[in-house]
Amino acid sequence: MNDEKFVEVKNLKKVYDNGHEAIKDVSFSVKKGDLVCLLGPSGCGKTTILNMLAGLLNPSSGDILFDGKSVVNVAPKDRQIGYVFQNYALYPHMTVLQNVMFPLTVGKQKMPKDEARKIAEKYMATTQITELADQKPGNLSGGQQQRVAIARALVQQPKILLMDEPLSNLDARLRLKIREEIRALVKNVGITTLFVTHDQEEALSIGDKIILFNNGVIQQDDLGQNFYLEPNNYFVANFVGNPVIDNFKVTVKDGKVTGSDFELNVADLDQNRFKRELTDGEYTLSVRPENILPAPEGHVSAKVDDVELIGRERILKFTHDGVQARSLVNLEVPIKAGDNINLKMRLDRVFLFTKEGERVY
Ligand SMILES: Nc1ncnc2c1ncn2[C@@H]1O[C@H](COP(=O)(O)OP(=O)(O)O)[C@@H](O)[C@H]1O
Ligand SMILES: [Mg+2]
Repeated sequence: MNDEKFVEVKNLKKVYDNGHEAIKDVSFSVKKGDLVCLLGPSGCGKTTILNMLAGLLNPSSGDILFDGKSVVNVAPKDRQIGYVFQNYALYPHMTVLQNVMFPLTVGKQKMPKDEARKIAEKYMATTQITELADQKPGNLSGGQQQRVAIARALVQQPKILLMDEPLSNLDARLRLKIREEIRALVKNVGITTLFVTHDQEEALSIGDKIILFNNGVIQQDDLGQNFYLEPNNYFVANFVGNPVIDNFKVTVKDGKVTGSDFELNVADLDQNRFKRELTDGEYTLSVRPENILPAPEGHVSAKVDDVELIGRERILKFTHDGVQARSLVNLEVPIKAGDNINLKMRLDRVFLFTKEGERVY
């Protein structure tokens, strides 16, 4: 038994029959009881990974271990997995109670109806759908259907819960509420959960850790805050954050970092943050909007194009060298569209990326 690696994926690859390499060489592990988010843009391979974990799809190579034992040759029904599909996949002709009971009433381990009903009722109470017992799925809202799908995934007391974009069919407000409920529920049940989403804010809000994918490759496997503070590469820095990060083209030469109208000394950067030696050449200097702020003696001067209010903060939008950029300021900052301002970057918080996206600083 190894609780640190309750789920372990080793060098997993998937090439579909048409030759498309959907998962390239993926290794990660999930700690027992953790809720881990698999995050990434549409088409990056998230569902492919869940389907291989569930046994609905065979890997082309690599291994999957649950609790230290390889499951690649174990049938889906024997993997002790609960799966909440993206479209919920409820049985339309059955009531809510019948849907939730269903997994307990089929297969080798099928149990007497009374017993199945008792267990189903317990999970319907946990997911707060008791009053809907006699309804058909067609009469339920998206949020209610989703709870039914979760209850049905939990009745067999699986060891691992897989959820594929479970909130994507819900409206924005409900999404926020239900994501908190899902986290509370899985923590309460204590089940190890892999939660797939393309929404970075959702992942950051509920994941114990996040694994970010792109093009079938892991870009970063880390705690949420590190995606902000220590992104592995340009893709990560740009995928995570709202408002998105600002990117400026710069040239590094003779100890200077030169943008279209600003110049920094390499010596003024935090020397401990260099990943390797900074060689002369073209780079992208990226800075999060909360780390480029109005200041009398700024690095960059710009005219504010527009000001957007987001909750308690404001986004100052400006154009720099033809690129739209943003500064995230406190609500009280009295700057308005049309103002000419100077902006100062926190040099211990900027990043430098090569053209290939490698992070150098
Ligand atoms: N059965 C299939 N045959 C060929 N390509 C597929 C198949 N299923 C998915 N793909 C491709 O594999 C990639 C990953 O798909 P998927 O895992 O569904 O991504 P995600 O869930 O992250 O949106 C996509 O480019 C998709 O078009
Ligand atoms: Mg998918």
